[in-house]
Amino acid sequence: MAIVSSRSAAAGAAAPREPRQRLVDPAPLPNSLDAAEAPIQREDSLRPRRLADYIGQSELKQVLGIAVEATRSREEALDHVLLYGPPGLGKTTMALVLAEELGARCRITSAPALERPRDIVGLLVNLEPRELLFIDEIHRLNRVAEEILYPAMEDFRLDLTVGKGTTARTRSLPIAPFTLVGATTRAGSLSSPLRDRFGLIQRLEFYGLEDLQAIVLRAAGLLQIELDSAAALEVARRCRGTPRIANRLLRRVRDVAAVGGHGRVGAELVQEALSLHRVDGRGLDASDRRLLHLLQHGFGGGPVGLDTLAAGLGEDPATLEAVVEPFLLQQGLLQRTPRGRVITEAGLAHLQAHPEPSAA
Ligand code: ADE
Repeated sequence: MAIVSSRSAAAGAAAPREPRQRLVDPAPLPNSLDAAEAPIQREDSLRPRRLADYIGQSELKQVLGIAVEATRSREEALDHVLLYGPPGLGKTTMALVLAEELGARCRITSAPALERPRDIVGLLVNLEPRELLFIDEIHRLNRVAEEILYPAMEDFRLDLTVGKGTTARTRSLPIAPFTLVGATTRAGSLSSPLRDRFGLIQRLEFYGLEDLQAIVLRAAGLLQIELDSAAALEVARRCRGTPRIANRLLRRVRDVAAVGGHGRVGAELVQEALSLHRVDGRGLDASDRRLLHLLQHGFGGGPVGLDTLAAGLGEDPATLEAVVEPFLLQQGLLQRTPRGRVITEAGLAHLQAHPEPSAA
């Protein structure tokens, strides 16, 4: 029996293969991640588990805290949540925190893994009441999967086609009330019917220095690194407003401290360690400086189109736009104009202070 979306019988007729989504095994904790996802797992040990431990993003915490409390008292599934913003700011972490706060399990997948209708159908039919389904990169969901999601999100129902050809019939299958947590770096790329089905739409912002310093000190404690507060501030200054990068830099500092036989880590050691990794005092890395350098010296400071800039750097335009540019824009080093990218005065000043694209 073929079970596929009512609007996608042809796509569902593909030869059976193993589902590719990464399901989250609940053991030993209520919420954990697939063992195959090594980078996520490494990050996992430093993730806050409860809202009270989550540093920064105060508006997001306030909004979601109220929604969680109200949902708990009504004993319902939390409304669907869309989290958007640059990578590394804690979208997955927040999904796991929400699950923990609600005492529910979180299943984690990403849109590119939901290639065939049966991938998303398999996930949805196996959800328990009030569980969370986290779909990363949700803007990459294909149309068939999106259409399966609409009635699932709205009415906790799947509209399926059973059988083929003239005997095909449409069946409606109830599923458990669940919460979809979608994450994206590109909210603008989501179709409006999908976006409109989220009850809570929240943007994650770059973190401020104080919050980052607190995050670094917390992580240092968990990693048993003796780090003074000036050293934590130095890491905070260089992590592009992003906790994931802060934790990565902290591990590099730990390596340098261990090899050099340093006990307590101070600001100077952080500077030395991060210069080695070509991270400058403002947190720009070699690829940021390469972009500014090419923009100034290859295109006279701009304006230049994204595709041209990406081709010059040998980068994928989407990655450049979603990963590299947001921090440069936020720092006022780069501007997006209708005619293309332009370097700013501040960007030029930064380049003058760091004339070689790879210099720290
Ligand atoms: N580690 C990574 N992000 C964090 C955050 N927002 N709060 C506390 N620890 C973190």
